[in-house]
Amino acid sequence: MLVLGIETSCDETGVALYHGERGLLAHVLHSQVQLHAEYGGVVPELASRDHVRRVLPLLEQCLSQAGVTRADIDGVAYTAGPGLIGALLVGASVGRSLAFAWGVPAVGVHHMEGHLLAPMLEAEPPEFPFAALLVSGGHTQLVRVDGVGRYTLLGESLDDAAGEAFDKTAKLLGLGYPGGPALAQLAQQGDPQRFAFPRPMTDRPGLDFSFSGLKTYALTTLQQHGLEASADIARAFEDAVVDTLAIKCRRVLKQTGLKRLVMAGGVSANRRLRSKLAEIAAEEGARVYYPRPEFCTDNGAMIAYAGYVRLHAGQHEPLAIRAQPRWPMETLPAPR
Ligand code: KG4
Ligand code: ZN
Repeated sequence: MLVLGIETSCDETGVALYHGERGLLAHVLHSQVQLHAEYGGVVPELASRDHVRRVLPLLEQCLSQAGVTRADIDGVAYTAGPGLIGALLVGASVGRSLAFAWGVPAVGVHHMEGHLLAPMLEAEPPEFPFAALLVSGGHTQLVRVDGVGRYTLLGESLDDAAGEAFDKTAKLLGLGYPGGPALAQLAQQGDPQRFAFPRPMTDRPGLDFSFSGLKTYALTTLQQHGLEASADIARAFEDAVVDTLAIKCRRVLKQTGLKRLVMAGGVSANRRLRSKLAEIAAEEGARVYYPRPEFCTDNGAMIAYAGYVRLHAGQHEPLAIRAQPRWPMETLPAPR
């Protein structure tokens, strides 16, 4: 079974082809970073319009890279939410319409389920059950995963998501959008001893997070020491986020007794976070799994894969275009 995946929930247009036996055949991506950079963040209307421009040319490119034609496609998966409504509508309309025209089933994929299953595209995928840390621009969640569609939310951010905190702090430090990678790069030159930032909500039980205070902490430190201190602030901030996430991941492994920890979403591309989680997992006798860096951030491959799993299990949409800006992942059905 060959599935076309389309991702347009935010600021990347991603298209991919996943085959049940042959694996990922091709994936292409267009990032809108240049488009939004001058505004310091994603402008939703510009994002939607750019998806319209890119999606079909990317599809042509993906087909030729994979060496297949549209007649080979057995199903279409598109991101149906959560995300920016205008952006989602582009992928949803295109995906649903193509499936209708080609006479194949379509399925609306949950963007965070896409992230969650992205490690399945790697050479040694995790087996169920596992604990997952989902860290993106919009979500920070700890989830117990007993199978596809069998998700128990164990903890989440009560305010800013980890990626959002990276982006906002990067902005304070005068770094461009998207801020996460830029802040991580600046932090490499920072002195880890100079400032000690708090590890929010780690002194009490539970698995929830709060990151908005760290941004304020960064601002206050910046006001006291000036931009000269920005690399040291970046380092202190990154260490605080990484440590806080690691403390809660260790807690999840201890509480659940699970021996597999998956990390996914844009922030899981962060090198310090990857090595820190590998370290704590090893100490807990567990193993950590993450996608290759290009599949941590938004991409079409994860949508094609998640869509394949659900289409293969017989799940598909009626003749309606589905786009849901808000969509709790725990409400997803488990395929038969
Ligand atoms: O998963 P993603 O591409 O989009 C959403 O679903 O939100 O995540 C994007 C987020 C942004 O906040 C970005 O700054 C952050 O992931 N990010 C990083 C790194 N790479 C991306 N944060 C810290 N370190 C990185 N290396
Ligand atoms: Zn994402």
